[in-house]
Amino acid sequence: MSLLEVRNVTKRFGGLLANDSIEFSVETGTIFAVIGPNGAGKTTLFNTVAGAFAPSQGEVAFRGQIISGQPVHKIAQAGLVRTYQLVQLFKTLTVAENVMVGFHRVTSGGVLAALLRKPSTQRQERMIEARTREILEFVGLTHRADVAADLLPYGEQRLLEVARALAASPTMLLLDEPAAGLNTEETESLARVIQRVNESGVTIMLIEHDMSFIMRVAHRIAVLDFGRKIAEGTPEEIRAHPDVIAAYLGGTEGFDD
Ligand SMILES: Nc1ncnc2c1ncn2[C@@H]1O[C@H](COP(=O)(O)OP(=O)(O)O)[C@@H](O)[C@H]1O
Ligand SMILES: [Mg+2]
Repeated sequence: MSLLEVRNVTKRFGGLLANDSIEFSVETGTIFAVIGPNGAGKTTLFNTVAGAFAPSQGEVAFRGQIISGQPVHKIAQAGLVRTYQLVQLFKTLTVAENVMVGFHRVTSGGVLAALLRKPSTQRQERMIEARTREILEFVGLTHRADVAADLLPYGEQRLLEVARALAASPTMLLLDEPAAGLNTEETESLARVIQRVNESGVTIMLIEHDMSFIMRVAHRIAVLDFGRKIAEGTPEEIRAHPDVIAAYLGGTEGFDD
C-alpha cells in the first residue's frame, strides 16, 4: 500500500475542469513532485490533497484511510501536514515562537487557540522548547531564534514555514511552491533542508515551477497540463518525455513558465 493515493480525482469549477481524472501514488520515504505550466491545475490538486476542498469526483487516501473531504486539521492529525504558497507566519512573534505554534496546531484545530493556550505543565513546556531548538538547528535557523519573523529575509521565512510544519511531527509534508520567489542561494539551502527532512524519514510531496530545483530533489515527478496528468516518472524520464517538452515549450517561457 502506498502512503498517499490520489484516485481518479476530478475537480470542476463551474464548467472548468481544473483537475481531470488524476491518479498517482506516493511511496513512503520518497519525494514526489507535481509540476506543470501555469493554469495546469497544480494548486487545485494540492488543495484537494491537503483538504482545503473536496474533489468533485474521486478520492484521496492517506495510510489507507480516505481523507478527501475532511478538514485540514483532521488531515494534519493523521500525519499529513501542509505549508502555504504565500508565507503565513505570525510576523510579530519570534522565530522560535512560530515553531512553538506548530506543536499545538494538530491538537487545537486552530492557531488562535494554540496561541492562547498555555502548556499544561512545566515539563511539557521544557520539552517543547527543547524540540524547538532541535528543529531550528535542523533547518539552520538557530541564530535567528529570537528575531521577529517578519525581519527574516524571504528565504529564511520559507525555512521557518518548514520548521513550523516539522513541529507537528508529520509523516508526510506537503509543500506548495516552496522555491517561489527565492534566489539561487536560498533555493540551494531549501533543497538541502528538504532533502534532510526526507532523509529523517518524512515523505514529501511538493508542487513547483522551478524545474532545476525539482530535477534535483524529486525521486518521482507527475506532470499536469490543462488539468490532466500527461506524464509520470523519474527526473530523467520526465526530462526526455516528448509530451512534457511539448507542454512546456507551448508556453513562451519554457520550463520555468
Ligand atoms: N477557485 C476557483 N474558481 C474558479 N476557477 C479556478 C479556481 N481555482 C483555480 N481555477 C482555475 O482552474 C485552473 C487550474 O488552476 P490552478 O490549479 O491554480 O493551476 P496552477 O496551480 O497549475 O497554476 C485554472 O484555469 C484556474 O483559473
Ligand atoms: Mg498554482
